[in-house]
Amino acid sequence: MHERPFIVGNWKMNGTRAMLSQARAIDRAAQNLMRAEVALAPPYTLIHPVHREAAQIGVGAQDCHAGDEGAHTGDISAAMVADAGAKFVILGHSERRKAHGEKDSLVRKKAGAAFAAGLQVILCCGEPEQVRDEGTAQDYVTKQLEASLPKEIERAGENLTVAYEPIWAIGTGRTPNVEEIGAMHRAIRKVLVERFGEDDGAQIRILYGGSVTADNAAELLGADEVGGALVGGASLTADTFIGIVMAAAGGADSAAS
Ligand code: 13P
Repeated sequence: MHERPFIVGNWKMNGTRAMLSQARAIDRAAQNLMRAEVALAPPYTLIHPVHREAAQIGVGAQDCHAGDEGAHTGDISAAMVADAGAKFVILGHSERRKAHGEKDSLVRKKAGAAFAAGLQVILCCGEPEQVRDEGTAQDYVTKQLEASLPKEIERAGENLTVAYEPIWAIGTGRTPNVEEIGAMHRAIRKVLVERFGEDDGAQIRILYGGSVTADNAAELLGADEVGGALVGGASLTADTFIGIVMAAAGGADSAAS
């Protein structure tokens, strides 16, 4: 398991250049909170500006196309986001699955393209509320994950992070409890170990996402097999996001430069 929790802010469709001041403040704080690894996924238009200014935080994209190049008006390839400074890409987010009809097979192709372009992938999975109520969430999520992982990848290591984001917890202020999160993350770990083997499968970080705030971060990050958080709304201001990073890092690191 990684020792440093990975805290990623997903800005979704928020942010113009006016928000670069927030990214700068987050970057400055991250330099004193080295016990956590911090990253931001701003909209495409801000990837390069954030990358250019960031000394500490990683920068990523929120999606990419599955193809290399060509006649795809409005789309952006994995190589393009890498060229803009992205180190990783979030794929399979439930908002893309819902609003753009993205199926596991497409997410899998995108992940293959991202790895080929040298990007790390944060692969999202999560169940709708009805599935949770029916008691079949673990089955749903593990199948979704298995089907979204590219078949040709034999080793994942640092290049893959999984984010468990129950759809009913995104932007609602509701979260599963620590036991429920732990049980789901253990089920995800099992899939990863079966797919990549004991050593490699154990290295892959599994983030929790869905209504993470500075108030609940310490508790949620303490759940079994949770290696960090994917944060939406609370990542949009430095104040709220840094609160989460501090909770993850267990306070400021005085040894940091
Ligand atoms: P919220 O933190 O706003 O619930 O969003 C979670 C999310 O979807 C991150 O990808």
